[in-house]
Amino acid sequence: MAKKTAQSKQNKQMITPKRSLTTETESMLNEQILMEGKSSAYYLSMASWCDTEGYVNSAQFLYKHSEEERQHMLKLFGYINDAGGHALQPEITDIRHTFNSLKEVFELILAHEIEVTKSINKIVDHCFGIKDFTTFNFLQWYVTEQREEETLARRAVELFDIIGEDGIGLWTIDQEIGKLENFAEESGPETSPDMQ
Ligand SMILES: [Fe+2]
Ligand SMILES: [Fe+2]
Repeated sequence: MAKKTAQSKQNKQMITPKRSLTTETESMLNEQILMEGKSSAYYLSMASWCDTEGYVNSAQFLYKHSEEERQHMLKLFGYINDAGGHALQPEITDIRHTFNSLKEVFELILAHEIEVTKSINKIVDHCFGIKDFTTFNFLQWYVTEQREEETLARRAVELFDIIGEDGIGLWTIDQEIGKLENFAEESGPETSPDMQ
C-alpha cells in the first residue's frame, strides 16, 4: 500500500501540464470564431445585395470587410491550436440575403459590431479574472480593432443624416462609403491580422 502511494506520488510529479489554456477559455474563443465567421458571412451577403442594387462602392467596401472578418476568424484558429486547443469550423446558418435599404445595412453592421465588442470584452474580462495573461494579451489586438470597426460603422450611418437620401443623396452616400476605407487606413492601427 505504502509502495502504491509512493508510486502515485511520483506519477503525479511526472505529469506536466500540456497547456495553460483552460477548456472554458477555449470554448469562449471558439464562440468568438463563430462570431467572426458570422460577421464575414453577413458582410458578404450584404455586399452581394449592394451589388445587385447598384451601390458599387458599398459593395466593394463590404466584400473587403467580409474578407477581413475571415482573417479575424483565422487568427483565432491559429491562437487556439498553437495553445494546444482545437479550433472548430463554425456552423453558420440563417444568413439574410435581402435588405430594406442601404441605411438598414449599415445600421445592422453598427449593431453587430457593438455585439462583437461586448463579446470580446467578456473574454478579456474572463482571462483577466483567471490570470490568463497570454490570452488577455492576444485579445488586445481585437480590442483595438473593435474600436476602429465601431467608428467606421458609425461614420457610415451618420452619412445618411448628414447628406440625406433624397435626389442624388444615396448616390453621394455610396461614393462617401467608398472613401471610408481610406479614413480607416489613415486613422486606425494596422487592420490586417498578424499571424505570428
Ligand atoms: Fe471582426
Ligand atoms: Fe468587424
